[in-house]
Amino acid sequence: MNPIDPADSAHLADAISRILPALQEFYRFEGPDLAARRSVEWKEKLSMPLPQQGQGLDAVLDDLINTIIPNGLRNGHPGFSGWVTTSPTSSGAAAHVAAAVAGSQRFWVQAFNYLETLSLDWLKELLGLPSFWQGTYTSGGSSANLIGLGAARQWAMEQMGVDPSMTGIPDGVRFQIYASNEVHHVVNRAAAVLGIGRRNVIGIPTDHEHRIDLSLLEARLRQDAKNGIRPLALVATAGTVNVGAVDPINEMADLAAQYGSWLHVDGAYGLFGKLDPRVAHLFEGLNRADSAAADPHKWLAAPLGNGVTFVRDTSILGRAFTLEPAAYLEGSASQDGVVESPFDDFGVPYHDFNLDQSAPSRGVSVWAILKEVGADGIRDRIINHNSYARLVAQLVKENPLLEVVTEPVLSICCFRFNDGTKTTQELNDLNARIAARLRSESNYVPSTTVVKGTYAIRPCYINPRVRASDVIGLVNRVAELGIEMK
Ligand SMILES: Cc1ncc(COP(=O)(O)O)c(C=O)c1O
Repeated sequence: MNPIDPADSAHLADAISRILPALQEFYRFEGPDLAARRSVEWKEKLSMPLPQQGQGLDAVLDDLINTIIPNGLRNGHPGFSGWVTTSPTSSGAAAHVAAAVAGSQRFWVQAFNYLETLSLDWLKELLGLPSFWQGTYTSGGSSANLIGLGAARQWAMEQMGVDPSMTGIPDGVRFQIYASNEVHHVVNRAAAVLGIGRRNVIGIPTDHEHRIDLSLLEARLRQDAKNGIRPLALVATAGTVNVGAVDPINEMADLAAQYGSWLHVDGAYGLFGKLDPRVAHLFEGLNRADSAAADPHKWLAAPLGNGVTFVRDTSILGRAFTLEPAAYLEGSASQDGVVESPFDDFGVPYHDFNLDQSAPSRGVSVWAILKEVGADGIRDRIINHNSYARLVAQLVKENPLLEVVTEPVLSICCFRFNDGTKTTQELNDLNARIAARLRSESNYVPSTTVVKGTYAIRPCYINPRVRASDVIGLVNRVAELGIEMK
């Protein structure tokens, strides 16, 4: 037996300070993105059999500094407007490191448990949600929606006298979830995991503004009710991932009430969009929802792995997701109610409200971001980003070689090169080639999508580092490449 553990736990400050210059350098996002082009080189350096003898902390830090960090993912580059995630800003990243070291569980009576609650309260205030709603952090939008729909399943079956978390779904019971056919696929997966089934997520076509078509939704609900099929939940997407459309939440709340359904709002991307007074009215009815998902790791630029679910019924998460008491944990709680050690009380039992027993504190990152920039700072960001999408639309309209594919609602504006001489197929191919070239040049990296058959370049602004020059540069570069490649 060797009584000394081989892993270093004495030189944390030294280890972190040694990687900091490489992180700071990476974080400048200067020069071209070479990670993919150099992949043969860095894979060769990293690839090795499982070391039987450890190589020590220095060897790890060398690899991090020289090989791994310089070849990381540059979705925080100011010209990156691709997916709905970005690199964290400084305060969130610092808080994330603090949580990794000092907040490695979110329960028990300690500061990180308290910050989960405080930051959830701040988020409710920021988003204008009722203060009594229960929130819980999750690992992202996928699980935030799953938790919301898990609560919906609990509620819907409790109406039938069944506790699905205890007994499962009884034979012969069929529930459906209704959403627009622009719903994010994580909702379909949540239905799969919850035993509802992907095919029981009914995709309702959208109207000309890419919002769920209310008359088709109502017709389908009516028809299904006649056939004895129950609505488990209506899902309103507040900021669709493709074009940023916000479903009519208020009207969907009316339908949910009429048909006895739960209303869930997937605001993973767009819920923070509500802070822009120009579009706040689109979120009317949010307070009537039963649950809502939002992702701090999107527009708040929290470190990745940060989603949140809010529910109206404060006890339902406990009923749907309880772990049930565990002797090895409960045994540590105070018997006489006196809380003298962190282990004498669980604090708010977030581990009973979602999928993870052990989980890092995520609230500390949200707390750090909101404390640093305040509600006004986030509001300014959202307004800027929504304005950038409007700037894209304006520049595109001014250029006869470009065409707006979807008008911006939030911070997405889909557009394409179109000189008026090509078929739909030719335009789709050309715009796909333009997008591939943009990605390889790496100065301006939007994502792409297909809107009702039209291939489009899709900048989505949530990255705090983006500047107006990046927006203008993208539009100009698309026009230049279109001329060059047509
Ligand atoms: C509307 C919407 N819902 C859900 C998700 C899934 O979120 P995550 O990737 O954090 O799991 C996304 C991701 O972009 C989204 O835009």
